[in-house]
Amino acid sequence: MLRKSIIAAAAALVAGGAAAQEPVRIGLVLPMSGPFASTGRQVEAAVRLYMQENGSTVAGRKIEVILKDDGNVADATRRLAQELVVNDKVAVLAGFGLTPLALATAPIATQAKVPQIVMAAGTSVITERSPFIVRTSFTLPQKSVAMAEWAAKNGIKKVVTVVTDFAPGHDAEKWFKEAFTKAGGQVAAELRVPIANPDFAPFLQRARDAQPDAIFNFVPSGQGSIFIKQFVERGLDKSGIRLIATGDLTDDDILNGYGDAALGIVTAGHYSAAHPSAKNKAYVEAFKKANPGMRPNFMSVGGYDGMHLIYEALKKTGGKTDGQALIDAMKGMAFESPRGPISIDPETRDIIQNIYIRRVEKQGGELYNIEFATIASMKDPEKAAKK
Ligand code: DHB
Repeated sequence: MLRKSIIAAAAALVAGGAAAQEPVRIGLVLPMSGPFASTGRQVEAAVRLYMQENGSTVAGRKIEVILKDDGNVADATRRLAQELVVNDKVAVLAGFGLTPLALATAPIATQAKVPQIVMAAGTSVITERSPFIVRTSFTLPQKSVAMAEWAAKNGIKKVVTVVTDFAPGHDAEKWFKEAFTKAGGQVAAELRVPIANPDFAPFLQRARDAQPDAIFNFVPSGQGSIFIKQFVERGLDKSGIRLIATGDLTDDDILNGYGDAALGIVTAGHYSAAHPSAKNKAYVEAFKKANPGMRPNFMSVGGYDGMHLIYEALKKTGGKTDGQALIDAMKGMAFESPRGPISIDPETRDIIQNIYIRRVEKQGGELYNIEFATIASMKDPEKAAKK
């Protein structure tokens, strides 16, 4: 009997020792190729920067990131997530550059009880698709409601919306209209532009024909350049019609390439490379140093803060990787991000953050989104409305 328990104790020790040496693996699934590769590059760069600054050991456990490129194909995202869970035994799935990619993975997170940290996608419904999803990016309703309320208070009465025709665009269109009409404004037309190889020209012509005070736009990260080019080609920048948008349009990654036509565009967004805080100044400097030629954009902070959430959750669990324990540790967590103060809503696992109203201005020869008003600690309006 005694001998048996000694053997059992020794076996437990060996097992425990082996477990302590196993790294905590994070499966990072991103579009590193294809039309949205810029999102993948930004999130990956921020994840690596966080680890460079904070080390790769947490609560006595080594952290290992396994990066997979889904090429913006949802079937690939699902397959890669499945393989990461089954073969690599990842403790956490992270990344997810676009809504369809995040949605495709949700059933795997639920079945495997593995936390899925959504670092980039922004459709409201995503967090409701699995109790194991936590979001560090943003929601389109947050930005669109903030933009609508500002527009209604600033002399804009009639708007045409021009959004990309997929889930986050539908969220932007719906929540802009809801908030704008509630505040007394009118949406004269709602135009949707296909996501693949977009040609905005015919939609911009229709928008112009309706003679609105402003066009409200949402495009996914990376597609702003072509929108601005066609906006200028049609002379809309000189038409007296104002351009307002979610911050996705004036993406810090590509804004400098827009030229002076972008000056004065007002957007609502959660992150600006010009956000005036010590934390952000240090972030931008370190990001640029580690990634020559790149400027951090609103996608990058989802990666950076997502890593912080994982590190802090592991500290709370003492290095244990039980999925439910990690999710419980993440609920309600609050900290300062380069974007400003953020927290994870303990009820919805969605992000609560400031949304800033910004104007494109030139500073030191570069174009920036300069924040001039703040809607503090905004919850996702769609979830708030459901309650
Ligand atoms: C989504 C993708 C984007 O590139 C963006 O800017 C906003 C939302 C998405 O797919 O959810």
